[in-house]
Amino acid sequence: MKIDDYDQGLQNEIRTRQGAFFTPKLWVDEAHKEVEKQFGVDWRNENIVWDCCAGTGNLFRDYDFKDLIVSTLSQDELDLLHKQGYVDAFKYDFLNPTDIVLETKEKKEKNVNQYSFFDLLGETNDKNDSVENTFESNLDTSTLNVIPANVQNKLRQFAKDGKRLLFLINPPYAASGTLKDDVENKTGVSDTLVKEKMKHLGACRSNLYFQFIFECIRQAHLFGFKKVSLCFFSPIKFMIQETAIKFRSWFYNEFEFKRGFFFNASAFSGVSSEWGVGFTIWNEGKNNSNPILDIRELDGTSTGRVKNIYNCDNQKSASEWVREPIKGMETYEYPIMTSGLKIKERQKTGPIKKAPQKEIPHIIHPPIPFTQKWLDENGKYKHTSLETKVGYEQWVDDCHIYSIFETKNNCTSMRDVSWGGEIWQIKNHFFWLERYGICGLLENYPSIKADYEKHYEESYVATLIADLTLGVEAINVLECATELWLKSLEKREAYALANPDLQLTCWDCGWYQLKGFWEKEYNVEFKKLKELHKALGDRLRPGVYEYGFLKE
Ligand SMILES: C[S@@+](CC[C@H](N)C(=O)[O-])C[C@H]1O[C@@H](n2cnc3c(N)ncnc32)[C@H](O)[C@@H]1O
Repeated sequence: MKIDDYDQGLQNEIRTRQGAFFTPKLWVDEAHKEVEKQFGVDWRNENIVWDCCAGTGNLFRDYDFKDLIVSTLSQDELDLLHKQGYVDAFKYDFLNPTDIVLETKEKKEKNVNQYSFFDLLGETNDKNDSVENTFESNLDTSTLNVIPANVQNKLRQFAKDGKRLLFLINPPYAASGTLKDDVENKTGVSDTLVKEKMKHLGACRSNLYFQFIFECIRQAHLFGFKKVSLCFFSPIKFMIQETAIKFRSWFYNEFEFKRGFFFNASAFSGVSSEWGVGFTIWNEGKNNSNPILDIRELDGTSTGRVKNIYNCDNQKSASEWVREPIKGMETYEYPIMTSGLKIKERQKTGPIKKAPQKEIPHIIHPPIPFTQKWLDENGKYKHTSLETKVGYEQWVDDCHIYSIFETKNNCTSMRDVSWGGEIWQIKNHFFWLERYGICGLLENYPSIKADYEKHYEESYVATLIADLTLGVEAINVLECATELWLKSLEKREAYALANPDLQLTCWDCGWYQLKGFWEKEYNVEFKKLKELHKALGDRLRPGVYEYGFLKE
């Protein structure tokens, strides 16, 4: 079916149904080229291709296929597929297949032990036949979510003929409770039958695209295919994140990475530019090496650079490493904060560990803002063994200063906070000035002075700074911030009165509390501080790679 073959009205109808993540033509074409590089120019004729979350058909509309299977979730989409001439397209909720209900029902009835997915992988057509027979004998056919019989037969025949089943998909990426305002992201969106079958694969099973990958493989095996390819758009977390370790050890044992590319998610209409999307191709086999993806510009052309995918599955991560000094220490309950200044009213959460004095090598997420977010947002910060490399110590010291004034630093000081039936005083251990240096400066500011006298604990970071060897950029940031801190005392009490939620009369209040006040009342100085902070970040950025926290 070619684009000219259907009328403008239909095109408009399709366009109005294209929300975020529907694949733009440019990226459909790039995906086709990538598949062609892997399987040759004739791949659309040689393989049976299934888009099992077809939407309105973006992935295949402009190409001819010999054997194409098209299915999708919603009736609206199905109607549009039919209008475009895909008369065999069918409505099928890929993540809630009736055979899973049947299997559970059958097991209950027979009171047999649950058999695992791995058992299913060994199943042959005989087993499929029994599934089909059970459909016929047991169920109200009007409520079944099954693949039409003619498609089932076709699939079985192709499998028998030794053909390759190739999934070409752009599945939904939602997980329960992750994205606001996403229709696919209602609570419970991921509570599917397929998720139930993925219990052994850990937390990642809440994410729909993981479920799609799993189910594609399960279906392929149910029909008896030996040759299976997965070609899909998705975030690249499945190859990286800790929450997907179990998934990887299963998936990498079944499938081998062949090729792929990576591009900024803003290529999809209305999607944030802060993360990236991959298109990856996998064949049956075992994956023994880290995937390498070609990084693309927004116009689809190659940047000439690659994204080396790696994870810390067999290696210590930076987050584990920095926690080592607090292992086994006494623990405390702590509240959940919904912002730097708001405590969620809930009695108890997990335990917090009390920091030992000057013993933790603080790497407070230094790399995140230093690097290009979308390229590295999924990058796994590794434990580095290069601590002795020249310049490393100074780099770590400077990172402390960077972290104090980083947007993500939500440390605050708060007084008389009610939580868990008690009243608490919250100390900001990220305040950068020592008490003795400021005591004489508070004479004209009675509220701040009173707080200073009442809450006399020294800030951890303030005492630490004295021992750091700082580079010129870090010193510039500290000096500028200190000058502004001093200058702004004159307006601080009045501002605090007008904005009581900020708790600005706390003598040790943090960047989170000060930044808005400074931006409004001392804009010129605030901008200068931001520029100096950026210059510090620019100098520190290469160290993230040089010292081995991230790989290029
Ligand atoms: C990201 S869109 C991609 C649509 C189209 N393939 C494209 O690339 O533009 C995901 C599609 O998956 C469909 N979908 C979501 N959940 C599904 C399910 N459980 N079974 C089948 N399709 C589903 C949605 O209706 C939507 O059309």
